[in-house]
Amino acid sequence: CLSPELIHLYDVQDKNVVIVDIFRATSTMLAALANGVDSITPVMDLETCKSMANSGYTIAGERNGKTAEGFELGNSPLAYLDNKYSGSKIAMTTTNGTVAIEKTKNVANKIILGAFVNLSATTDFLISEQRDVLILCAGWKGKFNLEDSLFAGALVSNLHPHFGTECDTSIAMKNLYEGNQHRLRIFMGQASHAKRLQNHNIEADIEFCLSLNIYDIIGILEEGKLVAKNPI
Ligand code: MLT
Repeated sequence: CLSPELIHLYDVQDKNVVIVDIFRATSTMLAALANGVDSITPVMDLETCKSMANSGYTIAGERNGKTAEGFELGNSPLAYLDNKYSGSKIAMTTTNGTVAIEKTKNVANKIILGAFVNLSATTDFLISEQRDVLILCAGWKGKFNLEDSLFAGALVSNLHPHFGTECDTSIAMKNLYEGNQHRLRIFMGQASHAKRLQNHNIEADIEFCLSLNIYDIIGILEEGKLVAKNPI
């Protein structure tokens, strides 16, 4: 449970890294993959992402919670729910989520997406791997945020019976989640990014991102592209 800026402090290469960006990148990526999208290529910058439209990619760009200028698709999970992009190759750039992937893609053993929408599938995969886990919370522009850390606590709570020692951050987040798991929506209403999204009138995205276990797939990075897999 740490932010991307601290990743260099950790020996990541033998670990499976779970990328977490609940509002909304990893929730959106999983919605896209679960609804037929062929692959998602995370991209660091807007211009590179835009140029990929010339190579047959459908491009999705978000900055500061809004659809980036010159993009049709932003970062809403709801855009993918009608299978409209089934079979598409998506190139996606977001404020925090794709940055977290970029910082770990060349150093981790495996990189998977974590979100409430596939909490159980993510848990099952990590247990089957029996390998150390590092939960990378994308946060907001390098800072702690409530939603990613709460998810980290939920994942630690699920993994706790199967894994050994946890770091103090994991223990703190596990207790934060267990103390609020039955009032998640109310608790998450305090989150700064939830308020930011409300200001953009996209509360429906918040509801979706807090939905538990609506997908039984995992999203895993293979050859630079995120694809859907069965957890076991
Ligand atoms: C991000 O990647 O920073 C977030 O998902 C922002 C958002 O889409 O609201």
